[in-house]
Amino acid sequence: MMMCKQAQAPVIQIITGGMDLSMLRHRPQKEKVVVVMGATGTGKSRLSIDLATRFQGEIINSDKIQVYEGLDIVTNKITEEECDGVPHHLLGIVDPESDFTAGNFVNSASMAMESIVGRGKLPIIAGGSNSFIEALVDDENYDFRSRYDVCFLWVDVAMVVLHQFVADRIDRMVAAGMVEEVRNMYKPNADYSKGIRRAIGVPEFDSYFRAEYSSSSDEKTRTKLLEAAINETKINTCILAHRQLEKIYRLRSVKGWKIHRLNATKVFQVKGREADEAWGELVTGPASMIVNDFLYSFGQSRGFAGKADGRGRGIREAEMGAAMATATY
Ligand SMILES: *[C@@H]1O[C@H](CO)[C@@H](O)[C@H](O)[C@H]1NC(C)=O
Ligand SMILES: *[C@@H]1O[C@H](CO)[C@@H](O)[C@H](O)[C@H]1NC(C)=O
Repeated sequence: MMMCKQAQAPVIQIITGGMDLSMLRHRPQKEKVVVVMGATGTGKSRLSIDLATRFQGEIINSDKIQVYEGLDIVTNKITEEECDGVPHHLLGIVDPESDFTAGNFVNSASMAMESIVGRGKLPIIAGGSNSFIEALVDDENYDFRSRYDVCFLWVDVAMVVLHQFVADRIDRMVAAGMVEEVRNMYKPNADYSKGIRRAIGVPEFDSYFRAEYSSSSDEKTRTKLLEAAINETKINTCILAHRQLEKIYRLRSVKGWKIHRLNATKVFQVKGREADEAWGELVTGPASMIVNDFLYSFGQSRGFAGKADGRGRGIREAEMGAAMATATY
């Protein structure tokens, strides 16, 4: 931290040509956090892992259902293989019968961030529960903002394209054993307003499992009920995607959050290698540049001071000018 400050001061003076920067210089150093937002199915996990790999990050899950242990298929938890060795926090660790509130998230995520920056790593918060992110960032005590600089990224996919994708994804989940997974935790008269049972894909199957239990239902009725449950799961997932999007728009317009939008639509319109290339070009590429600017502009956190090798320092100084232009208001 010391070294970082001393290296910085002369650079700033040269760029600003003697402007009084005492306020900036005495501003306490803040740690840096990246937040990856987006509707369900857009690829938040993929982007967060790409970024964690490039910038030595660790991921904090901000999906209010994926915090629970269990129902790995229904809640679409990423696999060990997809994690690619990147440490994840708040993923599948909460008792599925208990309630995990926004307040619980703020406390747990704050602890995780502290331990991540303490290890010299970059915290990357990723998940679909924008209410959790809002509670963390805009807390009444101003704790978060006084300690962290934040960079918001938003993976956006045109809704019609996303609808088709999430519907197909649910068919794949069913093929992967989703119905058996939910059946295993089915309890007649369970409370669907608590814990992991709130997950989309759980309450929707209630009538179907009820019919299975009842000896009077016939095969045809059960098949129909199963189909209806799958349909309803798809519809509710699309409704969730809309709500998530509305919330992001609101955080942008009403709260004035500076959220960088990445249009990933094309990734979902092509296949195979072409899709991977589109992902790199439209999502990982631009996101990496944004995060690079964010990390290596002035006011670096301790976590990144140590990592500035020759190349990193070059980028940092080049970005300093651009950063100063926006830092003077
Ligand atoms: C499920 O959705 C399909 C396609 O939209 C529709 O054809 C079918 O009738 C629906 N089934 C039930 C039981 O709602
Ligand atoms: C996002 O990308 C798609 C596909 O390339 C394009 O059709 C659409 O207009 C873009 N949306 C916006 C808002 O730029």
